[in-house]
Amino acid sequence: MLFNIITIFPDIFESYFSKAMIKRAQDKKIIKINTPDLRRFADPKDAHKSVDDTPYGGGAGMVLKVEPIYKALKAIKRKKKSRVILFSAKGKTLTQKDLQRLKKYDQLIMICGRYEGVDNRVAEHLIDEEISIGNYVLTGGEIPAMILVDGITRLLPGVLGNKVSFEDESFSQENELEYPQYTKPEKFKSWKVPPVLLSGNHAKIKAWRDEHKAKQK
Ligand SMILES: C[S@@+](CC[C@H](N)C(=O)[O-])C[C@H]1O[C@@H](n2cnc3c(N)ncnc32)[C@H](O)[C@@H]1O
Repeated sequence: MLFNIITIFPDIFESYFSKAMIKRAQDKKIIKINTPDLRRFADPKDAHKSVDDTPYGGGAGMVLKVEPIYKALKAIKRKKKSRVILFSAKGKTLTQKDLQRLKKYDQLIMICGRYEGVDNRVAEHLIDEEISIGNYVLTGGEIPAMILVDGITRLLPGVLGNKVSFEDESFSQENELEYPQYTKPEKFKSWKVPPVLLSGNHAKIKAWRDEHKAKQK
C-alpha cells in the first residue's frame, strides 16, 4: 500500500515512521510512504516559496492555497485503487470501520492542512473524503496522517503476524471494547491477577473476558 502525505513539514514524519511496526512494514515492502513537500509546488517565481495567503472576506490567520495542492496532487502517480483524503476538523470522524474500509485501497493520498485551514476549492474539487480524527483542533494534519498510516498498517496482512486476532480487539464489534489484560507477576504489592485467568480453563476464561469487556462511553 502506498501512502502519499502532502505536507509543509515532511521532517515531522521521520522519527515515527522509522521505528517499530511502521519501519518493519516498510522493510517488508508491505507499505511505502512518500511525504512530498508542498513548498516544492509553490510559484517558482516566489523566492519565499509561500503556499498560503490571507482569507477572502477577512479574518485571522492564513489559508493554504489551492494551486500548490493541485500541482502536488497532479505530480503523484496514481494507482488504480487510490483515494484522496483531506484532514480537517469538520470532516467525518475516523473510526475503526473507516480503517477497515480504507485498508482496501492500493494508495491513500493525504493532504495535511495548516494555519487556518485549506482553500475550500480543495474540498470541493480535488478530494474523495474529508476526515477528522476527533472533536478538537490541532495545528496541522500531520498527526492525523500518522494516525491513519499507523491504524491501517497494523491491519495489513503480514504486519502483525497471525498471532493477533482483530476480532477480539476494541471497536471490532459495535460498542465493545477489549477485556482487561494482565501479565507477570501474579501478585504485585497486594494487587492480584484475577484467579480465573490462571485457571487454565479456557471456557471460564472466555466467559470472564466476555463479561468484563468494557463498553464505549
Ligand atoms: C488549526 S487547524 C484549522 C482549524 C480550522 N480553522 C477550524 O476551525 O476547523 C489546521 C489544520 O489542522 C488539521 N486538523 C486540525 N484539527 C484536526 C482534526 N481534529 N482532525 C483532522 N485534522 C485536523 C487540518 O488539516 C486543518 O486544516
